[in-house]
Amino acid sequence: MREARVYSEIVPRTMPLAEMLAKRPKGIIFSGGPASVHVDGAPSIDPAVYDADTPILGICYGAQLIAQQLGGEVRETGGGEYGRTQLSRTGSSVVLSSLPEEQQVWMSHGDAITTVPEGFMITASSPGAPVAALEDRDRAIYGVQFHPEVVHTERGQDVLRAFLFDVCDCRPTWTNTNIIEEAVAEIRAQVGTAGVICGLSGGVDSAVAAALVHRAIGDHLTCVFVDTGLLRLGEAEQVEETFNRQFHVELIHVKAADRFLAALVDVEEPETKRKIIGETFIRVFEEVARDISSAGFLVQGTLYPDIVESGGGDNAVIKSHHNVGGLPDDMDFELVEPLRNIFKDEVRAIGEELGLPEDIVWRQPFPGPGLAVRIIGAITPDRLEILRAADHIVVEEIRRAGLYREIWQSFAVLPSAVRTVGVMGDGRTYENPVIVRAVTSEDAMTADWARLPYDLLERIASRIINEVAGVNRVAYDITSKPPGTIEWE
Ligand code: XMP
Repeated sequence: MREARVYSEIVPRTMPLAEMLAKRPKGIIFSGGPASVHVDGAPSIDPAVYDADTPILGICYGAQLIAQQLGGEVRETGGGEYGRTQLSRTGSSVVLSSLPEEQQVWMSHGDAITTVPEGFMITASSPGAPVAALEDRDRAIYGVQFHPEVVHTERGQDVLRAFLFDVCDCRPTWTNTNIIEEAVAEIRAQVGTAGVICGLSGGVDSAVAAALVHRAIGDHLTCVFVDTGLLRLGEAEQVEETFNRQFHVELIHVKAADRFLAALVDVEEPETKRKIIGETFIRVFEEVARDISSAGFLVQGTLYPDIVESGGGDNAVIKSHHNVGGLPDDMDFELVEPLRNIFKDEVRAIGEELGLPEDIVWRQPFPGPGLAVRIIGAITPDRLEILRAADHIVVEEIRRAGLYREIWQSFAVLPSAVRTVGVMGDGRTYENPVIVRAVTSEDAMTADWARLPYDLLERIASRIINEVAGVNRVAYDITSKPPGTIEWE
């Protein structure tokens, strides 16, 4: 919706209807979600919303909820659809009006609507969803089983635009400048004249968060860069260099690799790794903050997808992103998260508007827990060394091929418990495989594996095997998200 330049807010479904309507929404969208309408305690909404004279669009679970609450039927048909799906239109429709008869959409559902409520028409279907879209024009209630909000739904944005402009009568007047002004005002209101520290990772999120806070409070900001020992080849030096060139605030560089690696010895379980890393981060920050007078606030570049996937609201915990779910309860900071309601594409646009350099704004995302979630199994210095070298080759070749910017993320993964047999020279080898992962995505909520050219894959594979001691095989991961996630852990 914001891409269509329409202001939108995300509110919990439990917000009393009167409060929701007091915001005078021109339309209400019910999001998707992982539950089934049939389970006890399934997320629901006050049915009075259907009589509020406000247009409604339900997406995925939201569409099923509409069908169920208004007297239709939702069943577990056993024919769930996950990922790319063919959608066929089945009649005239307001929200699908600009779409062709057939197209590709992104689905992620187990249950399906089997009977529509009275007054509704079926406007599209797919192999696993007899009702892939439904609408009741008179009441202005619409539902789509597919996800119009993800980039892999070819014409998804057109569906949202039709709802916003043709059904809700919205006008496209919301811009990034509004977002910046609002964020700056909110930061000032939250922190007053207190000291604030900001963890920089070198990625776009923390850089934009820092730039926003800097704009809001100037010199009251101190930036801290923690070298966890889980960074990529040359990354610490690069971050320091870029930072010094770009920002004019104090940067404290903490070299804490030994501490992180000691805390992670023999830890294999992914969630435990994240918790340990999150906790260690906070303790390091607390120590730094003790030396800075009145630093009671910590800036985090948390984005909305991090919150969604860490189980905010009704959402299932997919993984604890260390800057959200992995933080200890007893920390001495209040968090400042100026990006917590926005998505990566908006962060990049804001970064550009704030004048950050291209190598920061267009850097591929890198997870807070770093290489720890790309070594499957325990973290050791040897494994880090192998992964770093392999990862460096992947990124270097992707850059050389001119694909760095269009690919969302490209990296190597080391499944350290596996050994494979190979032959090099005339001898048998028994070494590590490395997995190459490259995905396209718009916001990390969904992703597809990148169709890298074969000759590029070949160059990456042969360079890794020739140049990285301890690796004798390279595999390419062709899993989309869902059902996979982008990272392996
Ligand atoms: P997944 O693997 O969940 O990743 O599909 C979605 C995006 O988030 C990044 N990621 C993280 N970022 N802390 C972060 O700051 C984390 O714990 C974390 N885990 C995953 C991942 O690289 C991808 O861009």
